[in-house]
Formats: sequence, C-alpha cells, structure tokens
Amino acid sequence: MKRNRVIAGNWKMNMTQEGAKALMQDVIKWMPKNLPSDVDVVVCVPFTLLNFVNDMIKGTRIKLGAQNMSWAEKGAFTGEISASQLIETGVSHVIIGHSERREMFNETCETVNKKIKYALANNLTPIFCIGESLEQFEKGETNATVARQVKDGLNGLTEDELTKVVVAYEPIWAIGTGKTASPQDAQNTIAFIRAELLKNVAEQMPILYGGSMNAENAKDLLSQNDIDGGLIGGASLKAHDFLCIAGSTI
Ligand code: 13P
Repeated sequence: MKRNRVIAGNWKMNMTQEGAKALMQDVIKWMPKNLPSDVDVVVCVPFTLLNFVNDMIKGTRIKLGAQNMSWAEKGAFTGEISASQLIETGVSHVIIGHSERREMFNETCETVNKKIKYALANNLTPIFCIGESLEQFEKGETNATVARQVKDGLNGLTEDELTKVVVAYEPIWAIGTGKTASPQDAQNTIAFIRAELLKNVAEQMPILYGGSMNAENAKDLLSQNDIDGGLIGGASLKAHDFLCIAGSTI
C-alpha cells in the first residue's frame, strides 16, 4: 500500500467567519482540477469555525481538521474538546503535539501519546508534530530530539495503528520565521525519522515538512523522496499561496 500525500493548512488562532468565508471560497474555486488523487488537502481551523467551514467544503475534496483534542472522553475538563465533539462537526484529522502547544501550554510527550491513541480509537487521523528547537539544531541534536519524540509519542501503538498516523516534522526555528530548512536537510531528517519508525510500516506512513513553507519553496521541498507533504501555517491563510503549495504536488 502506497502512502498518501497530505497538504494541510494550520490556521492557528486566526480568522473569524468573514475571513474564513472569503479564503475558503477562493480555495474551493481555484483548487487545481488535476490535483493527484493521492493528495489529501486538509484545513485545520479554529474550533469555532469547524461547523462553518464544514458546510463550505461539502462536496469538495477538502477535508476538515482540528488543531488539538483532549485525551479524555467527556466530563469535567473545562476548556477541552473531545473526539466525539470534533467528529460531530465533520473533522477527520487532528493536529497533536504542535510545538506551540508543547512550548506554551505544557504538552508533554506523555499527553501527546495519550491523545494520539485516543484519536486513533475514534478513527481520527492524528497529525503528530515533532521537531527540534534552535538550540538543539545548533548543537547537532536534531536526530536525537526527533528520535525521542517519535519513540515517546508513538509508544505502545500497534503496527496497524501506526499506519494511520501522519507525522509532521517541524523544526521550531523554522516556524513563522521565514527561515526554511533546506530541502536536503529536511529530506535527511525525514529519512532518518522514517528509519526510526517501525521498519515494517515506515513506508506506509506519510511524513510532512512544516516551517515557513510557501509558494516559492514548496516545489523543492515536496520533490524530495521522503517528504510526503506539508503542514502550512502562514501561507495557508492566503488562497493563492496555499493553492500554489497544493499545486506543487502535481
Ligand atoms: P509557518 O508555515 O507559519 O511557519 O507555520 C508552520 C506551522 O507551525 C504549521 O503547523
């Protein structure tokens, strides 16, 4: 089974209905008709826009994602959101363990692992984020960092479960900075991550690059052997840029 490719926009904490409407109208209208069928296009929008965007993408090939999820089923978890609440709004994908959540909201590898298991148990596709800090990068600790994150984040998953996970390698120093990892560096780290994953299923798991991917650099990044797509922040808020990136898979 060949793995799918994934182009996922992460809107982060941006947009209200007005902007989302304009953006999605353009994305839907101008989506390349010849986009290969193995490419999943996903928009991961704020919770408050899930229903709104879900209504807009009905009948299109675009899939809906959330940016976080609780590991608990329901109950006294003020401010959290459950898998069933997401599924009700049409969500199929959920970003888990984004570095912004790890760094600013104290998410640990342990909670990330619980969330991934919970997403899979509910037939949601986790987009599992990993990546090194600038300090780790400069010390040459990139591989050691991502190896630890992969080991802990995917701890206890069966091979069957692993094949349903999408991994996103996002060097933290490249996020929102305009500094992109070179295609060769990104390829090397992602090839290493693939080798670190369970050998039997590594070829079936999509691994994305994220960090200042844009309309100009997408083609070079996406043409690397092991880079199966992108997790796109800033550029996913502009229809033209997001579509250029998606179009780079053709
Ligand atoms: P930017 O594309 O804005 O660098 O953000 C990347 C990211 O964090 C996607 O999750």
